[in-house]
Amino acid sequence: MAERVCDSDLLVIGGGLIGCAIAWEAAQRGLRVTVIERDEVGGGATYAAGGMLAPLAEADGESPFLRSCCRSAELYPGFVAKLRDTVGLDVEYRTEGTIFVSLNETDDEELESRFRWQRDCGMNIERLSRANLLGLEPSLNPEVRWALLFPNDHQVNNRRLIKAVYAAACSAGVEFRTNTNAERLLIRKDGGHQVIRGVQADGKVFEAEKVVIAAGSWSSRIAETPETGIVPIRGQMVAVRNAVPPVRHTIYSRRGYLVPRLDGRLIAGSTTENAGFECLNTAGGISTVITNALEIMPGFANQPIVETWAGLRPRAADHLPVIGPDASIRGLIHATGHYRNGILLAPLTALVVADLLTGSSPEIDLTPFLPSRLMI
Ligand code: GLY
Repeated sequence: MAERVCDSDLLVIGGGLIGCAIAWEAAQRGLRVTVIERDEVGGGATYAAGGMLAPLAEADGESPFLRSCCRSAELYPGFVAKLRDTVGLDVEYRTEGTIFVSLNETDDEELESRFRWQRDCGMNIERLSRANLLGLEPSLNPEVRWALLFPNDHQVNNRRLIKAVYAAACSAGVEFRTNTNAERLLIRKDGGHQVIRGVQADGKVFEAEKVVIAAGSWSSRIAETPETGIVPIRGQMVAVRNAVPPVRHTIYSRRGYLVPRLDGRLIAGSTTENAGFECLNTAGGISTVITNALEIMPGFANQPIVETWAGLRPRAADHLPVIGPDASIRGLIHATGHYRNGILLAPLTALVVADLLTGSSPEIDLTPFLPSRLMI
Protein backbone atom coordinates (compact mmCIF):
# COMPACT_ATOMS: atom_id res chain seq x y z
CA MET A 1 0.00 0.00 0.00
CA ALA A 2 1.20 3.55 -0.79
CA GLU A 3 2.72 5.51 2.08
CA ARG A 4 0.26 8.15 3.33
CA VAL A 5 1.26 11.66 4.39
CA CYS A 6 -1.62 13.69 5.77
CA ASP A 7 -0.53 16.50 8.06
CA SER A 8 -1.26 19.49 5.79
CA ASP A 9 -4.27 21.68 5.15
CA LEU A 10 -2.86 22.73 1.80
CA LEU A 11 -0.66 21.12 -0.83
CA VAL A 12 0.99 23.47 -3.33
CA ILE A 13 2.26 21.72 -6.45
CA GLY A 14 5.23 23.73 -7.70
CA GLY A 15 8.09 25.34 -5.80
CA GLY A 16 8.71 28.26 -8.14
CA LEU A 17 8.17 31.82 -7.02
CA ILE A 18 4.38 31.63 -7.46
CA GLY A 19 4.07 28.42 -5.42
CA CYS A 20 6.46 29.62 -2.70
CA ALA A 21 4.77 33.02 -2.39
CA ILE A 22 1.36 31.36 -2.07
CA ALA A 23 2.73 28.89 0.49
CA TRP A 24 4.29 31.71 2.54
CA GLU A 25 1.10 33.79 2.50
CA ALA A 26 -1.13 30.80 3.33
CA ALA A 27 1.14 29.76 6.22
CA GLN A 28 1.02 33.29 7.63
CA ARG A 29 -2.77 32.93 7.65
CA GLY A 30 -2.56 29.81 9.78
CA LEU A 31 -2.66 26.98 7.21
CA ARG A 32 -0.31 24.00 7.45
CA VAL A 33 1.29 23.94 4.01
CA THR A 34 3.39 21.44 2.08
CA VAL A 35 5.01 22.35 -1.25
CA ILE A 36 5.66 19.49 -3.67
CA GLU A 37 8.37 20.37 -6.20
CA ARG A 38 9.54 18.06 -8.99
CA ASP A 39 13.06 19.56 -9.00
CA GLU A 40 14.78 22.13 -6.77
CA VAL A 41 12.95 25.18 -5.39
CA GLY A 42 12.98 28.01 -7.95
CA GLY A 43 14.89 25.99 -10.52
CA GLY A 44 12.51 26.53 -13.45
CA ALA A 45 11.08 29.74 -14.93
CA THR A 46 11.89 31.57 -11.67
CA TYR A 47 15.63 30.99 -12.16
CA ALA A 48 15.50 31.85 -15.85
CA ALA A 49 13.56 35.12 -15.61
CA GLY A 50 14.95 38.61 -16.11
CA GLY A 51 13.23 40.03 -13.01
CA MET A 52 11.63 42.98 -14.79
CA LEU A 53 8.66 44.43 -12.93
CA ALA A 54 7.55 46.27 -16.03
CA PRO A 55 3.79 46.37 -16.61
CA LEU A 56 3.88 49.42 -18.86
CA ALA A 57 6.91 48.47 -20.93
CA GLU A 58 5.30 45.11 -21.75
CA ALA A 59 1.64 46.20 -22.11
CA ASP A 60 -0.31 46.00 -25.37
CA GLY A 61 -3.29 47.99 -24.13
CA GLU A 62 -5.46 48.98 -21.19
CA SER A 63 -7.08 45.84 -19.70
CA PRO A 64 -7.87 44.08 -16.42
CA PHE A 65 -4.60 42.21 -16.94
CA LEU A 66 -2.61 45.46 -17.11
CA ARG A 67 -4.39 46.77 -14.00
CA SER A 68 -3.50 43.55 -12.15
CA CYS A 69 0.14 43.86 -13.24
CA CYS A 70 0.23 47.48 -12.02
CA ARG A 71 -1.37 46.44 -8.73
CA SER A 72 1.22 43.71 -8.18
CA ALA A 73 4.01 46.19 -9.01
CA GLU A 74 2.58 48.49 -6.31
CA LEU A 75 2.72 45.61 -3.82
CA TYR A 76 6.45 45.02 -4.46
CA PRO A 77 7.99 47.58 -2.07
CA GLY A 78 5.96 46.12 0.82
CA PHE A 79 6.71 42.56 -0.31
CA VAL A 80 10.51 43.08 -0.38
CA ALA A 81 10.48 45.07 2.88
CA LYS A 82 8.62 42.24 4.60
CA LEU A 83 11.13 39.74 3.23
CA ARG A 84 14.01 41.86 4.55
CA ASP A 85 12.36 42.09 7.98
CA THR A 86 11.51 38.37 8.06
CA VAL A 87 14.67 36.74 6.75
CA GLY A 88 17.17 39.60 6.47
CA LEU A 89 17.78 39.13 2.74
CA ASP A 90 18.13 41.97 0.25
CA VAL A 91 16.57 41.04 -3.11
CA GLU A 92 18.08 43.97 -5.04
CA TYR A 93 14.82 45.75 -5.79
CA ARG A 94 15.88 48.57 -8.14
CA THR A 95 13.82 51.66 -8.87
CA GLU A 96 15.82 53.44 -11.59
CA GLY A 97 12.96 52.78 -14.03
CA THR A 98 12.70 51.22 -17.46
CA ILE A 99 13.53 52.78 -20.83
CA PHE A 100 12.07 51.73 -24.21
CA VAL A 101 14.21 52.87 -27.14
CA SER A 102 13.29 53.59 -30.75
CA LEU A 103 15.83 52.54 -33.36
CA ASN A 104 13.84 52.94 -36.60
CA GLU A 105 10.62 54.40 -38.05
CA THR A 106 8.45 51.41 -37.18
CA ASP A 107 9.68 51.66 -33.58
CA ASP A 108 8.75 55.39 -33.67
CA GLU A 109 5.14 54.53 -34.53
CA GLU A 110 4.90 51.88 -31.82
CA LEU A 111 6.38 54.18 -29.15
CA GLU A 112 4.16 57.12 -30.20
CA SER A 113 1.06 54.96 -29.99
CA ARG A 114 2.12 53.58 -26.60
CA PHE A 115 2.88 57.05 -25.29
CA ARG A 116 -0.58 58.31 -26.33
CA TRP A 117 -2.70 55.50 -24.88
CA GLN A 118 -0.73 55.21 -21.67
CA ARG A 119 -0.72 58.97 -21.07
CA ASP A 120 -4.51 59.04 -21.81
CA CYS A 121 -4.96 56.31 -19.16
CA GLY A 122 -3.07 58.47 -16.65
CA MET A 123 0.01 56.22 -16.54
CA ASN A 124 3.41 57.55 -15.46
CA ILE A 125 5.31 57.77 -18.76
CA GLU A 126 7.80 60.29 -20.12
CA ARG A 127 9.48 61.02 -23.45
CA LEU A 128 13.28 61.18 -23.63
CA SER A 129 15.14 62.91 -26.45
CA ARG A 130 18.26 61.23 -27.81
CA ALA A 131 20.43 63.71 -25.88
CA ASN A 132 18.58 63.09 -22.62
CA LEU A 133 18.70 59.34 -23.12
CA LEU A 134 22.42 59.28 -23.85
CA GLY A 135 22.97 61.53 -20.85
CA LEU A 136 21.25 58.92 -18.68
CA GLU A 137 22.75 55.90 -20.43
CA PRO A 138 25.98 56.80 -22.29
CA SER A 139 26.67 53.17 -23.27
CA LEU A 140 23.61 52.91 -25.55
CA ASN A 141 23.66 53.05 -29.34
CA PRO A 142 24.42 56.69 -30.34
CA GLU A 143 22.04 56.20 -33.29
CA VAL A 144 19.05 55.69 -31.01
CA ARG A 145 16.25 58.08 -32.10
CA TRP A 146 14.39 58.75 -28.83
CA ALA A 147 12.86 56.73 -25.99
CA LEU A 148 10.09 56.34 -23.46
CA LEU A 149 10.87 56.30 -19.75
CA PHE A 150 8.62 54.34 -17.37
CA PRO A 151 9.68 55.59 -13.92
CA ASN A 152 7.44 53.07 -12.10
CA ASP A 153 8.64 49.99 -14.00
CA HIS A 154 11.24 48.52 -11.65
CA GLN A 155 13.24 45.30 -11.37
CA VAL A 156 14.29 42.71 -8.82
CA ASN A 157 16.96 40.02 -8.71
CA ASN A 158 14.69 37.00 -9.17
CA ARG A 159 17.37 34.52 -8.04
CA ARG A 160 17.82 36.32 -4.74
CA LEU A 161 14.06 36.80 -4.47
CA ILE A 162 13.27 33.08 -4.57
CA LYS A 163 15.90 32.38 -1.90
CA ALA A 164 14.26 34.98 0.32
CA VAL A 165 10.70 33.78 -0.27
CA TYR A 166 11.76 30.18 0.31
CA ALA A 167 13.48 31.13 3.58
CA ALA A 168 10.42 33.14 4.65
CA ALA A 169 8.10 30.23 3.83
CA CYS A 170 10.32 27.85 5.84
CA SER A 171 10.32 30.26 8.78
CA ALA A 172 6.50 30.33 8.62
CA GLY A 173 6.46 26.52 8.91
CA VAL A 174 5.99 25.48 5.28
CA GLU A 175 7.30 22.00 4.55
CA PHE A 176 9.09 21.42 1.23
CA ARG A 177 9.22 18.09 -0.59
CA THR A 178 11.73 18.68 -3.39
CA ASN A 179 12.71 16.25 -6.16
CA THR A 180 9.22 14.84 -5.71
CA ASN A 181 7.07 14.47 -8.79
CA ALA A 182 3.33 15.17 -8.41
CA GLU A 183 1.93 12.44 -10.63
CA ARG A 184 -1.81 12.81 -10.16
CA LEU A 185 -4.54 14.57 -8.26
CA LEU A 186 -6.56 12.40 -5.92
CA ILE A 187 -10.26 13.08 -6.08
CA ARG A 188 -13.20 11.70 -4.15
CA LYS A 189 -16.91 11.85 -4.78
CA ASP A 190 -19.20 13.66 -2.36
CA GLY A 191 -22.79 13.24 -3.49
CA GLY A 192 -22.77 14.50 -7.05
CA HIS A 193 -19.60 16.57 -6.55
CA GLN A 194 -15.92 15.93 -7.10
CA VAL A 195 -13.77 16.98 -4.14
CA ILE A 196 -9.99 17.11 -3.91
CA ARG A 197 -8.48 14.54 -1.57
CA GLY A 198 -4.79 15.15 -2.17
CA VAL A 199 -1.92 14.41 -4.52
CA GLN A 200 -0.02 11.27 -5.42
CA ALA A 201 3.66 12.09 -5.74
CA ASP A 202 6.51 9.59 -6.26
CA GLY A 203 4.02 6.86 -5.37
CA LYS A 204 3.16 8.41 -1.98
CA VAL A 205 -0.28 9.71 -1.07
CA PHE A 206 -0.31 13.28 0.27
CA GLU A 207 -3.70 14.13 1.70
CA ALA A 208 -5.15 17.61 2.13
CA GLU A 209 -8.47 19.36 1.69
CA LYS A 210 -6.98 22.05 -0.56
CA VAL A 211 -4.57 21.81 -3.46
CA VAL A 212 -3.07 24.65 -5.49
CA ILE A 213 -1.57 23.92 -8.90
CA ALA A 214 1.35 26.32 -9.36
CA ALA A 215 3.49 24.05 -11.51
CA GLY A 216 4.12 26.49 -14.37
CA SER A 217 4.75 24.72 -17.67
CA TRP A 218 4.21 21.35 -15.99
CA SER A 219 0.70 22.24 -14.79
CA SER A 220 -1.04 20.31 -17.56
CA ARG A 221 1.07 17.21 -16.95
CA ILE A 222 -0.47 16.18 -13.63
CA ALA A 223 -2.98 13.38 -14.25
CA GLU A 224 -6.64 14.16 -13.44
CA THR A 225 -6.00 17.92 -13.68
CA PRO A 226 -8.78 19.60 -15.66
CA GLU A 227 -7.09 20.72 -18.89
CA THR A 228 -6.06 24.37 -19.05
CA GLY A 229 -3.81 23.86 -22.07
CA ILE A 230 -0.71 25.45 -20.57
CA VAL A 231 2.27 25.10 -22.94
CA PRO A 232 5.98 25.86 -22.40
CA ILE A 233 7.41 28.80 -24.36
CA ARG A 234 11.19 28.84 -24.33
CA GLY A 235 13.19 31.98 -23.64
CA GLN A 236 16.97 32.00 -24.11
CA MET A 237 19.16 34.47 -22.23
CA VAL A 238 22.77 35.66 -22.16
CA ALA A 239 24.61 37.50 -19.38
CA VAL A 240 27.75 39.54 -19.96
CA ARG A 241 29.83 41.69 -17.65
CA ASN A 242 28.24 45.16 -17.53
CA ALA A 243 29.87 47.95 -19.54
CA VAL A 244 31.86 50.96 -18.31
CA PRO A 245 30.01 53.22 -17.67
CA PRO A 246 27.46 50.60 -16.59
CA VAL A 247 23.91 50.45 -17.91
CA ARG A 248 21.66 51.36 -14.95
CA HIS A 249 18.09 51.18 -16.27
CA THR A 250 16.33 48.18 -17.73
CA ILE A 251 16.35 48.88 -21.49
CA TYR A 252 13.80 47.48 -23.96
CA SER A 253 13.61 47.65 -27.71
CA ARG A 254 10.77 46.01 -29.65
CA ARG A 255 13.12 43.08 -30.23
CA GLY A 256 15.00 42.51 -26.99
CA TYR A 257 15.95 43.84 -23.59
CA LEU A 258 18.90 44.45 -21.27
CA VAL A 259 18.66 44.15 -17.48
CA PRO A 260 21.57 45.37 -15.31
CA ARG A 261 22.26 43.56 -12.04
CA LEU A 262 23.99 44.99 -9.00
CA ASP A 263 26.52 42.13 -9.11
CA GLY A 264 27.99 43.64 -12.32
CA ARG A 265 26.15 41.41 -14.80
CA LEU A 266 24.10 42.67 -17.73
CA ILE A 267 21.40 40.24 -18.81
CA ALA A 268 20.12 40.16 -22.40
CA GLY A 269 16.87 38.49 -23.46
CA SER A 270 15.07 36.81 -24.96
CA THR A 271 13.63 34.42 -27.50
CA THR A 272 9.97 33.34 -27.60
CA GLU A 273 10.00 29.78 -28.95
CA ASN A 274 7.59 26.90 -29.09
CA ALA A 275 10.10 24.10 -28.50
CA GLY A 276 8.21 21.80 -26.16
CA PHE A 277 10.06 20.91 -22.97
CA GLU A 278 13.55 21.26 -24.55
CA CYS A 279 15.02 23.73 -22.08
CA LEU A 280 18.38 24.46 -23.68
CA ASN A 281 20.35 27.04 -25.62
CA THR A 282 20.66 26.86 -29.39
CA ALA A 283 23.17 28.65 -31.60
CA GLY A 284 20.31 30.40 -33.40
CA GLY A 285 18.63 31.48 -30.15
CA ILE A 286 21.79 32.92 -28.64
CA SER A 287 22.61 34.62 -31.94
CA THR A 288 19.17 36.31 -31.95
CA VAL A 289 19.54 37.50 -28.34
CA ILE A 290 23.02 38.90 -29.02
CA THR A 291 21.95 40.60 -32.28
CA ASN A 292 19.11 42.36 -30.47
CA ALA A 293 21.39 43.36 -27.59
CA LEU A 294 24.00 44.76 -29.99
CA GLU A 295 21.37 46.94 -31.63
CA ILE A 296 20.59 48.54 -28.25
CA MET A 297 24.22 48.71 -27.15
CA PRO A 298 26.97 48.09 -29.72
CA GLY A 299 29.56 47.80 -26.92
CA PHE A 300 27.81 44.58 -25.82
CA ALA A 301 30.13 42.97 -28.41
CA ASN A 302 33.19 43.56 -26.22
CA GLN A 303 31.78 42.27 -22.96
CA PRO A 304 32.79 38.81 -21.72
CA ILE A 305 29.92 36.32 -21.64
CA VAL A 306 29.44 35.02 -18.10
CA GLU A 307 26.36 32.78 -18.55
CA THR A 308 23.84 31.51 -21.07
CA TRP A 309 20.62 29.77 -20.06
CA ALA A 310 17.05 29.02 -21.09
CA GLY A 311 13.68 28.85 -19.33
CA LEU A 312 10.15 27.72 -20.11
CA ARG A 313 7.40 30.32 -19.70
CA PRO A 314 4.00 28.75 -18.95
CA ARG A 315 1.46 30.12 -21.47
CA ALA A 316 -2.30 29.64 -21.78
CA ALA A 317 -4.04 29.95 -25.16
CA ASP A 318 -5.01 33.59 -24.54
CA HIS A 319 -1.66 34.41 -22.85
CA LEU A 320 -3.43 35.42 -19.61
CA PRO A 321 -2.67 33.87 -16.22
CA VAL A 322 -4.88 31.10 -14.89
CA ILE A 323 -5.90 32.02 -11.35
CA GLY A 324 -8.95 30.84 -9.47
CA PRO A 325 -10.95 27.90 -8.21
CA ASP A 326 -11.52 24.93 -10.43
CA ALA A 327 -15.12 24.76 -11.63
CA SER A 328 -15.47 20.98 -11.32
CA ILE A 329 -13.25 19.89 -8.40
CA ARG A 330 -13.98 21.48 -5.05
CA GLY A 331 -10.86 22.47 -3.09
CA LEU A 332 -8.66 22.74 -6.19
CA ILE A 333 -7.23 26.14 -7.13
CA HIS A 334 -5.18 27.02 -10.20
CA ALA A 335 -2.34 29.57 -10.03
CA THR A 336 -0.38 29.09 -13.21
CA GLY A 337 0.12 30.34 -16.78
CA HIS A 338 1.83 33.58 -15.74
CA TYR A 339 3.75 33.51 -19.03
CA ARG A 340 6.01 36.61 -19.19
CA ASN A 341 4.93 38.01 -15.83
CA GLY A 342 5.47 35.42 -13.12
CA ILE A 343 7.94 37.47 -11.11
CA LEU A 344 5.81 40.60 -11.39
CA LEU A 345 2.52 38.89 -10.51
CA ALA A 346 3.77 36.81 -7.56
CA PRO A 347 2.76 39.15 -4.70
CA LEU A 348 -0.76 39.72 -6.05
CA THR A 349 -1.27 36.05 -6.95
CA ALA A 350 -0.22 35.02 -3.43
CA LEU A 351 -2.69 37.40 -1.79
CA VAL A 352 -5.57 36.48 -4.07
CA VAL A 353 -5.04 32.73 -3.76
CA ALA A 354 -4.65 32.98 0.02
CA ASP A 355 -7.94 34.91 0.07
CA LEU A 356 -9.64 32.11 -1.87
CA LEU A 357 -8.15 29.52 0.48
CA THR A 358 -9.36 31.29 3.60
CA GLY A 359 -12.79 32.30 2.36
CA SER A 360 -12.10 36.03 1.87
CA SER A 361 -13.02 38.02 -1.20
CA PRO A 362 -10.01 38.60 -3.49
CA GLU A 363 -9.18 42.26 -4.03
CA ILE A 364 -9.35 41.92 -7.83
CA ASP A 365 -12.08 40.56 -10.07
CA LEU A 366 -10.77 37.17 -11.18
CA THR A 367 -13.26 36.69 -14.02
CA PRO A 368 -10.71 37.22 -16.87
CA PHE A 369 -8.29 34.77 -15.24
CA LEU A 370 -10.61 31.94 -14.20
CA PRO A 371 -9.57 28.48 -15.43
CA SER A 372 -13.10 27.79 -16.70
CA ARG A 373 -12.56 30.17 -19.64
CA LEU A 374 -10.03 27.68 -21.09
CA MET A 375 -11.98 24.47 -20.60
CA ILE A 376 -13.97 22.97 -23.42
N1 GLY B 1 9.21 39.17 -19.20
C1 GLY B 1 10.28 38.98 -20.12
C2 GLY B 1 10.30 37.67 -20.79
O1 GLY B 1 9.48 36.82 -20.54
O2 GLY B 1 11.17 37.48 -21.63
